Amino acid sequence: MQAVNPREGAKAESTVHLKGLHYLEALKTLHELLLPSTYLEIGAAAGDSLKLADCLSVAIDPTFAIGINVMGRKPALHMLQGGSVDIFATRQLAGLLPNGADFAFVDGLHLIEAAYDDLVGVEANANQRTVAIFHDVLPINAEMAERGPVDRRDKGTRDWWTGDVWKLVPIIARHRPDLRVAVLDCQPTGILVVQGLDRRNDVLSRLRHEILSEWRDVRLASYGIDRLYRETPLVHAKDAAAVIGVVARGRF
Ligand SMILES: C[S@@+](CC[C@H](N)C(=O)[O-])C[C@H]1O[C@@H](n2cnc3c(N)ncnc32)[C@H](O)[C@@H]1O
Repeated sequence: MQAVNPREGAKAESTVHLKGLHYLEALKTLHELLLPSTYLEIGAAAGDSLKLADCLSVAIDPTFAIGINVMGRKPALHMLQGGSVDIFATRQLAGLLPNGADFAFVDGLHLIEAAYDDLVGVEANANQRTVAIFHDVLPINAEMAERGPVDRRDKGTRDWWTGDVWKLVPIIARHRPDLRVAVLDCQPTGILVVQGLDRRNDVLSRLRHEILSEWRDVRLASYGIDRLYRETPLVHAKDAAAVIGVVARGRF
């Protein structure tokens, strides 16, 4: 496993492309490694990530747009149509996944308050082995990390929107040092891997207002993309072994 600085040599604030595996390859690899009994996905869209799960699965999305066979070998798939916060509030997940989600992929609304609430919701439905991953935590320029539409100059990547999900990385570092985290340099915009979730831990729920008030209006353009990369525990996901190493070697 290799620590990397993909921005080395790049001009400050310029666009740089991550070199790791594509996120769907990494997701497939993690399914093969973890062999989860239960899978939770927040944000399923057309089903490209959901189809990779073979186990009992729950998918949440307010506007599913499934156009492929997402069932595969799953024994059951529950598709809950609604925003994740509303679904978590109904406590349906406790009934559908009474032993928690072994593996969770969060790729829903790309605003920090939504990603934060998804982390809280996943933790409330976690077990001791849960591996939770969060998509799009590594914007490769500041424009794609804006909270709303901006006039984009990054022509080649202007359809990409990571929003400000990147804030999860510094928030977890500051407020949940007990969690084991690593960030994979998966293409196109990184994956945050979190382990050590504890459904009895209420720090994030208690500090929600304080933390989000502090972070909501911070712009990556001001925070500094170079600073984000410097502070991020980045792992080069150059192949399946590197992705597996993040889990198997207890790195996080
Ligand atoms: C980037 S797409 C997901 C892509 C999919 N995971 C994949 O890899 O193919 C984001 C999805 O999040 C969904 N979404 C938006 N707001 C949401 C919310 N509040 N809760 C859950 N999902 C949400 C959107 O409808 C959209 O389908």
